[in-house]
Amino acid sequence: MLRLLVTGGMGFIGSNFIRYALRTRSVWTIVNLDKLTYAGNPANLADIQSCDGGGRYRFVLGDIQDSALVTRILDEGIDVVVNFAAESHVDRSIMDPVPFLQTNVLGTQALLDAVRGRSLERFVQVSTDEVYGPAPAEIVFTEETPFRPTNPYAASKAAADLLCFSSHKTYGTPVVIGRPTNNYGPCQYPEKFIPLVITRALENEPIPIYGDGQQIRDWLYVEDNCEALCWLAEAGQPGEVYNIAARTGVPNREVAERILNLVGRPVSLLRSVADRPAHDRRYALDDTKIRVAMGLFPAWTLDRGLEATVQWYVAHPQWWRPIKSGEYRRFYEDWYSQR
Ligand code: NAD
Ligand code: TYD
Repeated sequence: MLRLLVTGGMGFIGSNFIRYALRTRSVWTIVNLDKLTYAGNPANLADIQSCDGGGRYRFVLGDIQDSALVTRILDEGIDVVVNFAAESHVDRSIMDPVPFLQTNVLGTQALLDAVRGRSLERFVQVSTDEVYGPAPAEIVFTEETPFRPTNPYAASKAAADLLCFSSHKTYGTPVVIGRPTNNYGPCQYPEKFIPLVITRALENEPIPIYGDGQQIRDWLYVEDNCEALCWLAEAGQPGEVYNIAARTGVPNREVAERILNLVGRPVSLLRSVADRPAHDRRYALDDTKIRVAMGLFPAWTLDRGLEATVQWYVAHPQWWRPIKSGEYRRFYEDWYSQR
């Protein structure tokens, strides 16, 4: 048996992780602590909630900064913490960095403080490739590459990594850090590029492409990331960092064109808009360390992953259409009216 506390499990990757872990790890139990910000959506796990995950899953509404609540959960018996909880959108961090410092930095420190001195097997911190900043052409970053974050989101995630290292060194917290590249797949909030392109294409709306659209991301299908993070939870070496990548490396405009092709919409929907400030031109990671440690990885090609993702959004308009009102619309109008 392995008892997990998963934070941020109502978000995109967290909810995919919980469903995947309950399916593939029959002896795990999961407590999901989530504050339900705009990005946290109970519909992401409605199927699990309604069947109670076979008694192996429980949701707790709350903030990772609420030490008393976290302590109560830990007192019930937790072997592994997996910290997904975060403010996660670069553009929002450019508009207002403060919530990013609160959850990503102070929230992570609050969790580290809460687990201090407890007999935990692992504290898995879900970090990001963005901590390294942009990779020059032909260069791939290893786990040893120094941090050069360029936007408030990336800086807050780098700060959290440093706090994790310091907790490991100072108090012996069994921290394991995973640094995945850009994820995509079902249940991703449509502020992020791939679901934004899919949903706007389905609505026949113009699709904003920042700058020349030649920026490169290494697109990782969320299920591959979930398998890697499960492995970190059960076998990651405390004190170590693991890059998690797909080695896809495709420019944004090409990703958008592939999606339009799958949805059967014209390329004329793409509109060049003013670039994001400090837009990182390219992300590229060397993930040899985790590939060697885990064996075969990843399972999804970009073609298959995009097809599955498009199919999911086509089949679930009731999931994304309600999101595109209220708070989302206000953010969209604020941000894109400046572009
Ligand atoms: P998301 O924005 O979809 O979900 C974040 C979740 O955290 C939401 O459910 C939200 O309600 C919850 N949350 C926010 N603040 C909280 C708080 N103070 N207490 C409790 N819960 C809180 O994010 P995501 O895309 O699923 O990303 C998950 C993690 O993975 C983040 O740490 C992110 O930095 C990292 N990451 C994401 C990507 C990506 O492509 N999406 C890539 C690399 C790393
Ligand atoms: P995003 O999904 O925001 O992830 P990140 O910034 O963390 O990599 O963006 C992915 C890429 O798509 C990034 O290069 C910015 C670009 N992009 C656009 O061109 N237009 C958009 O409207 C958005 C949201 C992103």
